[in-house]
Amino acid sequence: MANDDKFKKVISHAKEYGYVFQSSEIYDGLSAVYDYAQNGAELKKNIRDYWWKAMVQMHENIVGIDTAIFMHPTTWKASGHVDAFSDPLIDNKDSKKRYRADVLVEDYCLKIEGKINKEVAKAQKRFGDSFNKAEFVSTNGRVLGYQEKIDTILKRLGQSLEKEDLADVKALIEELEIADPLTGSRNWTDVKQFNLMFGTKLGASAESAMDLYLRPETAQGIFVNFLNVQKTGRMKIPFGIAQTGKAFRNEIVARQFIFRMREFEQMEMQFFIKPGTQKEWFEYWKEARMKWHNSLGLGKDNYRFHDHEKLAHYADAATDIEFNFPFGFKELEGIHSRTDFDLKQHQEFSGKKLQYFDHEENASYTPYVLETSIGLDRMFLAVFSNSLVEEELENNTTRTVLKLPAVLAPTKAAVFPLVKKDGLPEVAKEIIEDLKWDFNVFYDEKDAVGKRYRRQDANGTPFCITVDHETLENNTVTIRHRDTMEQKRVKIEDLKAIIKAEVDVKHWLMRMQ
Ligand code: GAP
Repeated sequence: MANDDKFKKVISHAKEYGYVFQSSEIYDGLSAVYDYAQNGAELKKNIRDYWWKAMVQMHENIVGIDTAIFMHPTTWKASGHVDAFSDPLIDNKDSKKRYRADVLVEDYCLKIEGKINKEVAKAQKRFGDSFNKAEFVSTNGRVLGYQEKIDTILKRLGQSLEKEDLADVKALIEELEIADPLTGSRNWTDVKQFNLMFGTKLGASAESAMDLYLRPETAQGIFVNFLNVQKTGRMKIPFGIAQTGKAFRNEIVARQFIFRMREFEQMEMQFFIKPGTQKEWFEYWKEARMKWHNSLGLGKDNYRFHDHEKLAHYADAATDIEFNFPFGFKELEGIHSRTDFDLKQHQEFSGKKLQYFDHEENASYTPYVLETSIGLDRMFLAVFSNSLVEEELENNTTRTVLKLPAVLAPTKAAVFPLVKKDGLPEVAKEIIEDLKWDFNVFYDEKDAVGKRYRRQDANGTPFCITVDHETLENNTVTIRHRDTMEQKRVKIEDLKAIIKAEVDVKHWLMRMQ
């Protein structure tokens, strides 16, 4: 399936099976704002829990907090967001459409990457099983030429943004003859910076109202609570503070479904360390986070690191974990070495000392910070899009299966009576009553059993349990596995253990070891 078609299928499947709806759809929706539906809310919660367990529960030196969305406005002065949290935007004078200048250039490079992929696919077809992709991309003249072009363009873009040389970004767009993707016009304005924070007001009357921002990242809630947590939790460096929660950004180019939204959720962890140790912790968290991703089995080839050329105002090193979304490799998670920038800034702006007394060193210092920051909605999209497959079956039919990692699936098992009579529904409901203490389970008696299987396949349910007449004789049922479609006859009393073995968080997280 072509990538565009695949992406359309992902969006329509997410709606049809109760995962993601357009927000306020009855009023024709709100651009780049989405609601999670009955299954989506469960999947999202399971991803959040999977992250929380790996980061907080499994680390005795990491604790979790939950801070407010509203923060004192000085927070955002101190953090640099008021002055520097902006995107370089460019308008097309003919279409009146506004674009992120860096995204226009990156999309241009993606097109060149598409050409590389075509060359690889062609060669793969020609050489068959003996094809060595790594050797091909490192020796083929055409591929090397394309890659060099991409590297040169991205390097120049990175340097121009770093130096705030917006005139050069515009020059680059003109030199590459990048056109408005909608109209083809090349009539561009200058590039300008645009702040991404949403403003709001606190207070009843216009005179006394205080200007506030909706937080654009959850991280600052952690920084301003650093000392509270360190003291009350008697935390010793190195230690981490994690939180998950909503963040808001007035994204100009909000698109690609839940990939880039104006209201989204982050899962962030700030790891406070001794100054000078940031390089080793950067490597440690790069590896640890990649292991977490790989534990879910979405395919190692679907991830890659992308080191930043342009560093944020607070960082001395940064990398993205990129995922192969249906529209190509894009940022899923950021790992940033944030130095002591944030704590020092808050110390300066608040006048409160934010230091740590290190008993071993017998000295106080401002800790350095290593941050891991992943978008929950992006992780949802990565899991969902990767799991959705159309399978050719032996009898020349196809089935749509949502092969969600079982640990994340919204419903763990569906229970069916083979027919709606002879006491089978009653037994099926007894099984539901028992299993629901441990798992989300679903009862279905409508339509032929084959059709019920297909519905659960498309819904991502890892197990289907069928109660038939033999059940009445010997207390056994069939259990069908979503991915293999294999069916086994098992005792009702063994069901819980069989399901648990596959959906248990420990079973999955152990794959990180
Ligand atoms: N505290 C650091 C920070 O916020 P970031 O790279 O701006 O860093 C971290 O954001 C993660 O948040 C990204 O890797 C991405 O997964 C997610 N994210 C950022 N903007 C987003 C948006 N508009 N919609 C959905 N997710 C977003």
